[in-house]
Amino acid sequence: MFFVPDIIEKEKRGLKLSKDEIQFIIDGYVKGDIPDYQVSALLMAIYFKGMDEGETADLTMAMAHSGEMVDLSPIDGIKVDKHSTGGIADTTTLVLLPLASSVGVKIAKMSGRGLGHTGGTVDKLESIPGFRCELDGKAFINAVNTIGAAITGQSKNLVPADKMLYALRDVTATVDSMPLIASSIMSKKIAGGAEKIILDVKFGSGAFMKTYEDALRLGRLMVKIGELAGRETVAYITDMDQPLGLAIGNAIEVIEAAEILKGRGHEDLFSLCLELASQMMLLAKVEKDKTKAEKKLKASIKTGKALEQFKGIIANQRGNPRVLDDYSLLPKANHQLELTAQEEGYVKKIDAVRIGLAAMKIGAGRQKKDDIIDPAVGVWIYKKVGEKVSKGKPFAKILANDAAKLHWAADEVKSAFEFSYEQVEKRKVIWAKITKDGVREL
Ligand code: URA
Ligand code: CA
Repeated sequence: MFFVPDIIEKEKRGLKLSKDEIQFIIDGYVKGDIPDYQVSALLMAIYFKGMDEGETADLTMAMAHSGEMVDLSPIDGIKVDKHSTGGIADTTTLVLLPLASSVGVKIAKMSGRGLGHTGGTVDKLESIPGFRCELDGKAFINAVNTIGAAITGQSKNLVPADKMLYALRDVTATVDSMPLIASSIMSKKIAGGAEKIILDVKFGSGAFMKTYEDALRLGRLMVKIGELAGRETVAYITDMDQPLGLAIGNAIEVIEAAEILKGRGHEDLFSLCLELASQMMLLAKVEKDKTKAEKKLKASIKTGKALEQFKGIIANQRGNPRVLDDYSLLPKANHQLELTAQEEGYVKKIDAVRIGLAAMKIGAGRQKKDDIIDPAVGVWIYKKVGEKVSKGKPFAKILANDAAKLHWAADEVKSAFEFSYEQVEKRKVIWAKITKDGVREL
């Protein structure tokens, strides 16, 4: 038995909390025995004093075990999960599901809806007419074993400790704490049942971590926690100073994913998907050699196998797979407006957050938990940093279902772009890779 003020006192003085003390706090909080005000004080102490890797790993495991621990053992093979810390025009999961599963990686994807500039992967897929994410446990496992991939909404009882702590952090100014962020993310991955974990830790104006150094710290910490929990973890540090892909929305992100699988689509999104998918193949042990893995993935795209795989996943979840051949079968917005360049030049900067917020406010994402997403609306950008724009030619397009919002969003997106007469360097997408052996800058 512990006395909560003693634990707070210990953390306040920067001492190391024991595993049992951490367990006591998490159990007591989830049961309702420890009140918000004591946990708030502890969170603030953690914010100022930090936690070492061991404490953070203990916190992560206590949180992971606060609810259901998903058992994926009925699925054959090694289960690899990929997680992104969040960004704008991040369509990678939509691409990875079919791409990696088309070459033998088993993907049991559990994805939340959540809040953000666009919906989550579940919302994006639900823009496909008929598509359903409500699979029961048996149907989910069965689909992954037969087809290779399936997606389902997150279990309501996954890591209740995180739901409670996150809500408390949100109102006590303790969200931006490395050990709290790392334990929040990793507890959900570990409870989700993955044996191996790939993390895409983004940095830049459109990301949670604003600097490369902070993203690197977070990535290293999460790799360490994964290893301590016996789950091999690889983290990538990637750019989010501009949107990753070209589409910011829901139905249009399905289109962009389809374009990548057809061998078209933007090279930035493609190159990141290729890196993540080949790493998934290595971790799942379906391929030993990285170069061969990439070759197989490219071949799967070239032969149409990856696109067929996407159709199979969609059909299995009652969606209409023909949307991938005929995009007009997807929900369409009533209004659209193209933004055209006034002069010839280069894109210098794109304020990803501003575009993300514009997309959210016209209905592509949720501001509040109960908001309803409009699958048809969003923003296409045609040009990324370093790319050339021509006078009178479009560089972005707004899709909206409300004429007034269309014009408002157009102004926002226009203001988010900065141009220059001089040539501008393109931004690197993948900056570093972190494994248990250390950091490799790329
Ligand atoms: N994402 C999470 O899931 N948790 C955090 O604390 C921050 C980002
Ligand atoms: Ca401590």
